[in-house]
Amino acid sequence: MKYRNVIPEKLWFILVGLAGLIAGSIIISTFNRSNYNPLLCTRVVDSNPTTNQLNAILHYATSKITPQQSNQEIRVSFDVLQLLSPCNFLVFGLGFDSQMWSAFNPRGTTLFLEEDPKWVQTVLKDASFLHAHTVTYRTQLQEADDLMKSYRNVPSCLPANAYVNGNTECKLALTNLPDEVYDKEWDLIMIDAPKGYFAEAPGRMAAIWSAAVMARNRKGPGVTHVFLHDVDRKVEKMFAMEFLCKKYLVKAVGRLWHFEIPSMANVSSSVISGNSFC
Ligand SMILES: C[S@@+](CC[C@H](N)C(=O)[O-])C[C@H]1O[C@@H](n2cnc3c(N)ncnc32)[C@H](O)[C@@H]1O
Repeated sequence: MKYRNVIPEKLWFILVGLAGLIAGSIIISTFNRSNYNPLLCTRVVDSNPTTNQLNAILHYATSKITPQQSNQEIRVSFDVLQLLSPCNFLVFGLGFDSQMWSAFNPRGTTLFLEEDPKWVQTVLKDASFLHAHTVTYRTQLQEADDLMKSYRNVPSCLPANAYVNGNTECKLALTNLPDEVYDKEWDLIMIDAPKGYFAEAPGRMAAIWSAAVMARNRKGPGVTHVFLHDVDRKVEKMFAMEFLCKKYLVKAVGRLWHFEIPSMANVSSSVISGNSFC
C-alpha cells in the first residue's frame, strides 16, 4: 500500500512542476513581447535587426544617391528616435531618406505622406515594405501670405478650437489624410514635404499648422517632437514662428529646426491665450 501511494505523489509533483514551467514560459514570453521586464523594471530592447533595417543597409550600401538632409541634420531626429523608438513617427514626404527613417524606428510605426502618386510608385517599387499614403493638399505656395493674414478670421483655425480631421472651414487643416493619421498620437513628426519651391506647389503651410494642432491636442504623456526642414525659406520660417513657436524651438542645425510642442489637451480653452499659438 505504501509503495502504491508514492507513485501518485511523484506524479503529482511532476505535473505541478510541468504546469509551473509552462505558466512561467507563457508569462515570460508575454512580457518579452511587450518589451517590458517586471522583474528588472526596465524596457527590454530586442536588439535583433528587423527586415526593414537589413533592407536599408543593402539599399544604402549599393546606392550612390544619399538623403538630402546633412549628417548633422539627420542626427537631430536620430538622437530623439534612439530615446523613443519604438514609437509613432509621421513623415511628410517620400525620398531617398525614407528607408533610413523606417530603419531608425524598428518595431515602431513609421508612416509616410506623399503628394505625388508617381513618386510613391517609384519609391515603393524598391521598398514595398514602407508604409506610405498619397495625400492631396488644398493650398498652393502662392497663397501663403493670404493664409497667414486670413486664418485669424476663421474660428476653427484658432488655437482654442483648432482640430484637423474634418475641419474643412480652415484651409490650413489637412482634411484628406487616411484615418490612421488621425487615430494615432505621433511622437515625432518630420516635415520635409510637400514641395514648396514654386508658386503652384502645395507649400508646407498646412503641414506645419496641422502638426502644431496634432501636437497641442495630444492626450498621452510627453511632448511631440516636430522637425522642419528647409527653414532657410521664407514660408517655412514664417509659418513655423506663427504655429510651432520660437519658445518651443529646442535645436537649430543647418536648415533643420526641432521643436518640442507640449500638449494643451488638459488646458482650459479660456486659458489658451487669445488668437496666438505661441
Ligand atoms: C524636399 S523633397 C524630400 C526629399 C527627401 N528628404 C530626400 O532626402 O530625398 C520633397 C518632395 O519632393 C519630391 N521629390 C523628391 N525627390 C524626388 C525625385 N527624385 N523625383 C520626383 N519627386 C521627388 C517628393 O514629392 C517629395 O515629397
